[in-house]
Amino acid sequence: MLKDLVEKNRSYRRFCQDFPIEEKTLRELVDMARLSASAGNLQSLKYILSCEPEKNAKIFQHLRWAAYLKDWPGPSEGERPSAYIVILGDNLIGTNFYCDHGIASQSILLGSVEKGLGGCILASIDRDGLRKALDIPKNLEILLVIALGKPKEEVVIENLGPDGDIKYWRDKDGTHHVPKRSLDDIIIGQDM
Ligand SMILES: Cc1cc2nc3c(=O)[nH]c(=O)nc-3n(C[C@H](O)[C@H](O)[C@H](O)COP(=O)(O)O)c2cc1C
Repeated sequence: MLKDLVEKNRSYRRFCQDFPIEEKTLRELVDMARLSASAGNLQSLKYILSCEPEKNAKIFQHLRWAAYLKDWPGPSEGERPSAYIVILGDNLIGTNFYCDHGIASQSILLGSVEKGLGGCILASIDRDGLRKALDIPKNLEILLVIALGKPKEEVVIENLGPDGDIKYWRDKDGTHHVPKRSLDDIIIGQDM
């Protein structure tokens, strides 16, 4: 069921780094993004694939992980993603990418979960550093990075507490907890 995939599709940040992801798999995931909706059907998104340790390491150093987990600097060696998909906007095709990259990301991540993988969208990126590291041409705007791998952590959804705090947190066993607002809190103009 699609709902099961959506529920399972959490942001995973710790992975079995030795678990290989082939380029063929990344191509299949980008193909799902290719078939997704695009504003004005411009299809301005381009993608860089990475599944080799050397290229992965170049990308990793320009990413910022889990801003709410103040004491956690990001996944340590051995727990890092096995692959990345860098989503770029080609400003030779269009200069406004609307929410195309969000839709593309969700297609990629749902496809990943269906394959037994998992990932995390990252927008907190040292874009200048990543551009230099991967030699990305000026016409391609760095929009998002999708980190992918075999998840090595448990992520659970919680109901938002009475204090209304939306910050995710980790318990002593390392389980990652993500508070979500209730359905009634987000649908307005209805008396339930
Ligand atoms: C547009 C976008 C940008 C994000 N950027 C980052 C990021 O830079 N670093 C990170 O660790 N997580 C990032 N995330 C993941 C969110 O923190 C995550 O979606 C949120 O905590 C809810 O958890 P869930 O995805 O498991 O529902 C991003 C998510 C989205 C949708």
